[in-house]
Amino acid sequence: MRLQDVQTTFLAADILAIATRDVVNLSGGLFWAVELGRFDGLVSKASSVNGKLPQPTDDLNRLNSLFASNGLTQSDMVALSGAHTVGFSHCDKFTKRIYGFTPKNPIDPTLNAQYATQLQNMCPKTVDPRVAVSMDPISPRIFDNAYYKKLDQWQRPFYFGSSPL
Ligand code: HEM
Repeated sequence: MRLQDVQTTFLAADILAIATRDVVNLSGGLFWAVELGRFDGLVSKASSVNGKLPQPTDDLNRLNSLFASNGLTQSDMVALSGAHTVGFSHCDKFTKRIYGFTPKNPIDPTLNAQYATQLQNMCPKTVDPRVAVSMDPISPRIFDNAYYKKLDQWQRPFYFGSSPL
């Protein structure tokens, strides 16, 4: 094979898909063959993301319609949210739930009380905005179902309205 026959264009979308697969696999999850050949967009602007990513304060209706606008069902959304078994959330994403939720209930009453205290300890009121906490406090580096188990016990950093996410 001549050097000029070797494809030298690497697509960012493919690299991201491979890196994601490898992180999942290295942290104990499945391995799958990544189909290559995605085309990268020609324009990349932070401003075009506005309104297109799920927010921690979104309620179930808003989340459903956001995912539906990308051809994804509610079941897809629940399954994909399992990605939160790894990774971090900055304290400001849930500050309102642990300080000043409502005048009557400063702590969101749907939040497990012990977990609320843990979050307050990790994220004091004057916390450095760069501080982030593991979204799966049981096994933050392992790709498992601990994130869902925590949700069952109402130990979830995000609001998700009254939905079971
Ligand atoms: C269902 C609605 C979802 C909501 C409301 C949501 C919300 C959030 C929030 C608030 C954070 C923390 C961001 C920060 O503090 O900077 C986060 C992190 C993350 N989310 Fe989601 N998310 C959702 C769905 C998903 C899905 C579908 C995936 C992937 C399939 C995903 C993957 C991640 C990952 C990997 C992180 C960690 C990022 C890091 O550690 O830097 N999320 N999510």
